[in-house]
Amino acid sequence: MAASALSTHARAAITGWGTAVPEQRLTNADLEQRVDTTDEWIVERTGIRERRIVGDGETTASLAVEAGTAAIKQAGITPEDINLLIVATATPEQPIPHTGAFVSDGLGIHCGSFDLGAGCAGFLYGLVTGSALLTSGGLGHVLIIGAETLSRIANPKDRGTCILFGDGAAAVVLSPSTEDGPGLLTWDLGCDGSATGLLEVQAGGSRLPATAETIAAGQQFIKMQGQEVFKRAVRAVVESVKNALDRADLTTADVDWFIPHQANARIIEAAANRLGIPAERTVVNIDRYGNTSAASIPLAMAEAADCGKFKDGDIVLLSGFGAGMTWGSAVLRWGTP
Ligand code: UT7
Repeated sequence: MAASALSTHARAAITGWGTAVPEQRLTNADLEQRVDTTDEWIVERTGIRERRIVGDGETTASLAVEAGTAAIKQAGITPEDINLLIVATATPEQPIPHTGAFVSDGLGIHCGSFDLGAGCAGFLYGLVTGSALLTSGGLGHVLIIGAETLSRIANPKDRGTCILFGDGAAAVVLSPSTEDGPGLLTWDLGCDGSATGLLEVQAGGSRLPATAETIAAGQQFIKMQGQEVFKRAVRAVVESVKNALDRADLTTADVDWFIPHQANARIIEAAANRLGIPAERTVVNIDRYGNTSAASIPLAMAEAADCGKFKDGDIVLLSGFGAGMTWGSAVLRWGTP
């Protein structure tokens, strides 16, 4: 279906979701063999017990295709029904072409597709963009995928980062909904570009093309100032959630489920505490996957939905932050239009 200026939709709702994680697990015990760390330190400081790691032949696009296929199936549609594909990722398949091209090929679709880079907030940026294009363009269905293979850019020798990151993908199908129906109610997005150096991969782009020297210096790997990112993350989530809820004329008391980016269990706890959202309404799966960046929020949401946590009409709040520093929040009313 082509976009039509005459046709618009009031709202976009999630009608399907799916996940894909590699089989291979990397446990804290495995990491104890590689770097100077302990299971106790990792669990206490991050809440992570294991992560999934891609094996030979698995890539960002292969995980994205698997998650996208599952979401399409669950929405009860076929790949041809997808009118737009957005892939949020910080670990693209390769620099050119964009990951969405590989994913389109894997799904057998030819609609418009693009990648979206907004760090760990990428899925939220994708959700907002996809929703806006679906409603304003009168699209039938939009597929949004968060997919990452962070193990491919984590420095195996840096204990400050290699313990954090995991691989995975999760996808949602957005479909038209009515003015009073379920769907995306409000959102908040932001970026403080003065903080680019807090979390970065320095080499491989136009600023510092990859050379033998950059490789020798390990500049192809993620570098992070963990403590500073931690502080800013808590502040950003709290502010952003308030902005998004205000716009929906809601408060945290109205939130049935809070699904934060899974970067550190202590960040989640600190933000939820400041917002006054109790642990039993907060979705946490970081213990099993670590930080999967753009995949983390949809992965947690899809798992919670599969467990039957959400009922129709529930207010579901998503919030995340990441490299940039970016942040974002989305307020959804759950249910099928
Ligand atoms: O998703 C994108 C955003 N990313 C994040 O949100 C990550 C935010 N940051 C964090 O989650 C935390 O800052 C970390 C988990 C990365 C680090 O935890 P921390 O409590 O901030 O530790 P720290 O960096 O202040 O380090 C405390 C100590 C240091 O030792 P000394 O200097 O006190 O002797 C570190 O060298 O812990 C040491 N340390 C470790 N020890 C054992 C750092 N990493 C490890 C480790 N195992 N893996």
